[in-house]
Amino acid sequence: MEKLIEIDDYSFRYQNAKTLAVEHVSFDVHRGEFLAVIGPTGAGKTTVCRSIMRLIPEIYDGKSWGSIRIKGKDVSSYKPADISSFVGYVHQDAESQILMTNVEKEIAFPLENMGIPRKEMKERVNRALELVHLEDYRSRHPYYLSGGQRQRVVLATALAMDPEVLILDESVSEIDPLGAEEITTVAKELNAIGKTIVFIEHNMEEVAKFADQIVVLDQGKLVAQGTTRGVLSDMELLRRLDMFPPEVTQLFSELKKRGVPLPDEIPINLEDAQRQLARLLGKGSE
Ligand SMILES: Nc1ncnc2c1ncn2[C@@H]1O[C@H](COP(=O)(O)OP(=O)(O)O)[C@@H](O)[C@H]1O
Ligand SMILES: [Mg+2]
Repeated sequence: MEKLIEIDDYSFRYQNAKTLAVEHVSFDVHRGEFLAVIGPTGAGKTTVCRSIMRLIPEIYDGKSWGSIRIKGKDVSSYKPADISSFVGYVHQDAESQILMTNVEKEIAFPLENMGIPRKEMKERVNRALELVHLEDYRSRHPYYLSGGQRQRVVLATALAMDPEVLILDESVSEIDPLGAEEITTVAKELNAIGKTIVFIEHNMEEVAKFADQIVVLDQGKLVAQGTTRGVLSDMELLRRLDMFPPEVTQLFSELKKRGVPLPDEIPINLEDAQRQLARLLGKGSE
C-alpha cells in the first residue's frame, strides 16, 4: 500500500519544556486505511498531528529530530496551506473556532481565501454538506446547531479542500454520544469512498467498530502497533495504559479466565461476539 505520510524516528520538544513531547516515533499512514492512534492524555498524539500539519513549527516553537514526509517529500518543503489541501485536520476544540454566521459561509471561507472560482466553490460546498449530511442546515447560524452538528460543519470545512487524508483528533470526545456516532459514521463513509482516515480517540468501542490498524502512544513513545484485533485484545497493555478495552472484549476475556471453553480469538465488537456465540451454541445442540 502506498505510504501517504511517513513518520520516521521523529522527536519533538516544545520550547521551554524539559521533556520531549514525542520521542523516536515511527509509523506510516497508508492510502485508504482507517488508522486509529490511541493513548492516554499527554501521550503526544496532538503533537504528532501538529507536526504533520506544520503547525509545528509555524505556530508552536520547539526543536525536532527525525523526519515527517508527505507523499515522499519532507513536510518542511510544503507551505501549511498546501498541506491542508492534502490533509484535513479536525481537532478537539475546532468547533469553538467557527467564525461565520451561517454554515455555508463557514465552509466557503477558506475556499474564498484560496481564490477558488465561484462556481467551483459552490460545488465544493454542496459536496461537503452532502458528505456530512447537513444539506438542510446550509443557511443556519452555527450557534443554533448541536455540538455534533457543529463538529460536522468543521469536518465539512476540511472536506471542501478535498483532502486525501482526514485526521480526526478526538473530535468526538467532547460531544454527546449521538453526535459522536454521527461523526464516526461519516468517517466510515468517507473511508468507504477511498479517503484515508487517521482517527484519534480514547473510546475503544468506537475504535473497535471502525479501525483497521492501531498505533499506541504513551508518554511520547510508540508502545504498540498492529491490527485492531491484535491491539485491543492485549488486555495487559491497555490496562497498563489505563485504557478500557471494549466491554465485550472484557467480558469474553473474563469468561475465558474462568474456564469457559471459548476460542482463542477474543471478540472486539458485537458482531464478532455474536458469531462466536452462534458457533458455540450451534455446536452445543449438535
Ligand atoms: N503548546 C505546548 N507547550 C508545551 N508543552 C505542550 C504543548 N502542547 C502539549 N504539550 C505537552 O506535550 C506532551 C504531549 O501532549 P499532546 O501532544 O497534547 O498529547 P495528547 O494529544 O496525546 O494528549 C504533554 O506532556 C503536553 O503537556
Ligand atoms: Mg490531544
